[in-house]
Amino acid sequence: MIRYKDVRNNPNFKLLINRAWDYLKAKGYTEHGVRHVSYVSKITSRILEDLGFDERTVELGAITGYLHDVGNMHNRKHHGITGATIVYTELRAMGMELAEVCDITTAIANHEEEIGAAISPITAALILADKSDAHRTRVHRTKSGPPDIHDRVNLAVLNSKLYVDKGKKTITLDIEFDQRLCQIMDYFEIYLKRMEMCKSAATLLGCRFRLVINGLELLGHLETQQQEKLQQQELLKQKNRAGA
Ligand SMILES: [Fe+2]
Ligand SMILES: [Fe+2]
Repeated sequence: MIRYKDVRNNPNFKLLINRAWDYLKAKGYTEHGVRHVSYVSKITSRILEDLGFDERTVELGAITGYLHDVGNMHNRKHHGITGATIVYTELRAMGMELAEVCDITTAIANHEEEIGAAISPITAALILADKSDAHRTRVHRTKSGPPDIHDRVNLAVLNSKLYVDKGKKTITLDIEFDQRLCQIMDYFEIYLKRMEMCKSAATLLGCRFRLVINGLELLGHLETQQQEKLQQQELLKQKNRAGA
């Protein structure tokens, strides 16, 4: 059985991750190196663990998170799909079982908002982990002049954490945002589509996604009210039926 530590120790993957980051660095993107993929690996596996998935699914989640961005070594466009095919070849060469390789590569191919969709627990956990990684330490500026919107938004994120509440069935992204550097609207200009994707991912995992910025719940609250209203209406209908 191929373990997470075997993947981490494989020099081919180290090279691919560094090449992917070299490409994005040259294009002026935010940090996508070992720090990003290690963070995504940790959070993907933690989401699955907190929701009670079995040990092997949790480990496959860790491997998926670590390898999800290698496709960037070719091009940013469709890097989920190109990355999945690279990872497929490498993991098969290491001797990983085909079904497990498919679980990993399907998730990798579906992690980007342009064409991806949360179609399995590992895919959903990967999406949530990847999209939650906004932080000022990711800003990598090569150009002079004022920072662009991506850099400003990331610079304004002072702290961010993603956590699961299994009892309440919620997945929360809690962000501390410096509004002196950037407006919350700017955050949404970049992240709205990604947050919608997180919402679908949380739903697949049987949870409600909550986006909290500076203590204010900006996504998720309305849905709770609607759900409660629907539940009350359903209860009323059942009572009426029982009384009829
Ligand atoms: Fe990506
Ligand atoms: Fe990523």
